[in-house]
Amino acid sequence: MTAKLIKGTEIQKEILEEIGKEVKEIKEKHNVVPGLVTILVGESPASISYVTLKIKTANALGFKEIQENQPDDISEADLLALIDKYNKDESINGILVQLPLPKHIDDKKVLNAIDPDKDVDGFHPVNVGRLMIGGSEVKFPPCTPYGIQEMIVRAGVETKGAEVVVVGRSNIVGKPIANMMVQKGRGANATVTIVHTGTQDLASHCKRADILIVAAGVPELVKPEWIKPGSCVIDVGVNRVGEKISEKTGKKIAILKGDVDFDKAKEIAGYITPVPGGVGPMTITMLMLNTLKSLKFKLGISS
Ligand code: GUN
Repeated sequence: MTAKLIKGTEIQKEILEEIGKEVKEIKEKHNVVPGLVTILVGESPASISYVTLKIKTANALGFKEIQENQPDDISEADLLALIDKYNKDESINGILVQLPLPKHIDDKKVLNAIDPDKDVDGFHPVNVGRLMIGGSEVKFPPCTPYGIQEMIVRAGVETKGAEVVVVGRSNIVGKPIANMMVQKGRGANATVTIVHTGTQDLASHCKRADILIVAAGVPELVKPEWIKPGSCVIDVGVNRVGEKISEKTGKKIAILKGDVDFDKAKEIAGYITPVPGGVGPMTITMLMLNTLKSLKFKLGISS
């Protein structure tokens, strides 16, 4: 059997079209557009490339976009003051501080300084709490897990009563996706297990997963024989395992591998996400959706 590919690039296109349409409608009715500020500290090539994509996507959707590029040696106090400025700015609905931050800055302090009602990353403890409570309490699910859930729903995979196994317990992916899948409601109502580096027998848990979500950051950790035939495999791993010359541009590019042995896994699973082009594009997409939602909350428009 060859698995059905769940392509993030295609689902992204669908969702961005839906967002673009809503932005136009809101602009016509309320004469306002979603406002997003992206704060980048330093010059890490990976962070620059992520932020550039976020800015490009926001602009293409007709958002107001403010780019705050700050030097590596910005003081924590100055960064906090910058966040305070945008907390008070009525035209801004979303504040994104690209992580990681330099070592001299306490990232918890920075994330906690963002107004929870502008925290479109969903990392503020208030939003983590809202996610835990579930239902109508939830404002901004963190973007990567939000994207994963949307991919599963749009692929038509049944989640109600499904055995979901999450590999990895990070605050950005593992813990929130497990929390989301266990709630009542759309794309959830599943039986969820989180496995991690302390788990005794990873394989035995993975083998019973109807939906296997892998966010471990270990190239090809999940072996083909761990995959339940016909199951849905979501690979969140983006591991740089080397470099090659791009046939298209002639430039050096990273060779990326997921956390799952894709070539073999696709012969066993029913659904699978590729790397790249799977979960990756969904993170930016859901950031845009959260920013739109933030404006809608402010205007009192329900979805
Ligand atoms: N760095 C890597 N992923 C993310 C993300 O989802 N949000 C932010 N703010 N920084 C990141």
